[in-house]
Amino acid sequence: MPAQILDGKQIAAAVREEVKQEVARLKEQGITPGLAVVLVGDDPASQVYVRNKHRACEEVGIYSVVHRLPGETTQAELLDLIKQLNNDSQIHGILVQLPLPPHIDEKTVIDTIALEKDVDGFSPANVGNLVIGDKCFYPCTPHGCMVLLDKTGIDPRGKKAVVVGRSNIVGKPMAMMLLARHATVTICHSRTANLAEECRQADILVAAVGKPEMITGDMIKEGAVVIDVGINRVGEKKLVGDVHFESAVQKAGWITPVPGGVGPMTIAMLLKNTVEAARR
Ligand code: GUN
Repeated sequence: MPAQILDGKQIAAAVREEVKQEVARLKEQGITPGLAVVLVGDDPASQVYVRNKHRACEEVGIYSVVHRLPGETTQAELLDLIKQLNNDSQIHGILVQLPLPPHIDEKTVIDTIALEKDVDGFSPANVGNLVIGDKCFYPCTPHGCMVLLDKTGIDPRGKKAVVVGRSNIVGKPMAMMLLARHATVTICHSRTANLAEECRQADILVAAVGKPEMITGDMIKEGAVVIDVGINRVGEKKLVGDVHFESAVQKAGWITPVPGGVGPMTIAMLLKNTVEAARR
């Protein structure tokens, strides 16, 4: 029997509705959650992401300001803006869209964002809090994956989870979040010996490598939950994940589609983190 679909579009819509109601409650208390998004340069993909984030904020009643800076902006100018936003009481969350132009040091920039406004959850202090299980912001993409599991009634406790990919944005925080929920976690990457064998052990398999369709059905345990974080453009129009959907759907118990799986969850979780920042 083919896998059931983990419908990110539907679940993200439900999360956005929850956020909308929470925003309305906060507004009754005189608090309007505010998000500042900073975009440096004119990377076309980043422009689309930033526009979508701004629109999503407006839809749920979050106050959103986009700072579009030219590609020649100096690091000092960018840091000045962030410091100004750190001190702006109307702004509860700050997101600097990545990647930044090569003359700007991403680490320095991220580390300048006030910890209580780091709604992306990328700062070293936030990551440290995530690892030790302290209060923190969950990075939006892995947070979205966890909510997909929760809303579908899939409990990671005691399950074997395999995360393919070790990025700071997805793979590493994903592994930590699954561990915090009592899964037994393996992190695989480009140097992993016998990746297929590792993947076949997984009750929950998360693919976050950015390689089109590299996880095929023969690498999946019968009935596994497969979460595909990849969004890869092939050709002019087609988007595919890191999982080869047609073969994987025949083996998995649950699977996320691409598009319409993890993607819509990421922005929904950004909204949730922004509201959480305002509530704090
Ligand atoms: N670029 C690609 N994904 C992200 C993200 O989640 N946050 C930021 N700030 N930049 C990104």
